[in-house]
Amino acid sequence: AAADTVAAAVLARHDGRQDQLLPALHALQDAIGFIAPARVPAIARHFNLSRAEVHGVLTFYHHFRAEAPARCRVTLCRAEACRSMGADRLLAHAQRTLGCDLHGRSADGSVSLDPVYCLGQCANAPAMTLDDAVFARVTPARFDALLAHALE
Ligand code: FES
Repeated sequence: AAADTVAAAVLARHDGRQDQLLPALHALQDAIGFIAPARVPAIARHFNLSRAEVHGVLTFYHHFRAEAPARCRVTLCRAEACRSMGADRLLAHAQRTLGCDLHGRSADGSVSLDPVYCLGQCANAPAMTLDDAVFARVTPARFDALLAHALE
């Protein structure tokens, strides 16, 4: 498929030295959005590593995704300032609304829910991101409105 061709081209741009593994993984994810487990064998061969080693790197860095991102990606700030300003209540609301926990996805898979630690909005807590935008002073009602708008 097209993604396979892109992946092969990305690997070919990185020589097999092991210090090229991380740059290659970043380039792969940038190019095709995520790094499926099925790609691990080819990556391991290219860098002369075991599959377990490549898998270990992929799971160590939370940045790398093993599956396509959800249609809507929500992160809720779980750091101190936000927690003192209602972030726990917001999280409980999000869990109830989406029917999933942190690091999970809504039942229909359309929304992912993840923690984030400080978005630089501490003075306007609690904060969240929706896709690539940051929102501050988020109430449960505003959460619902933002999500409804994003899923329209
Ligand atoms: Fe949440 Fe800083 S603690 S934005």
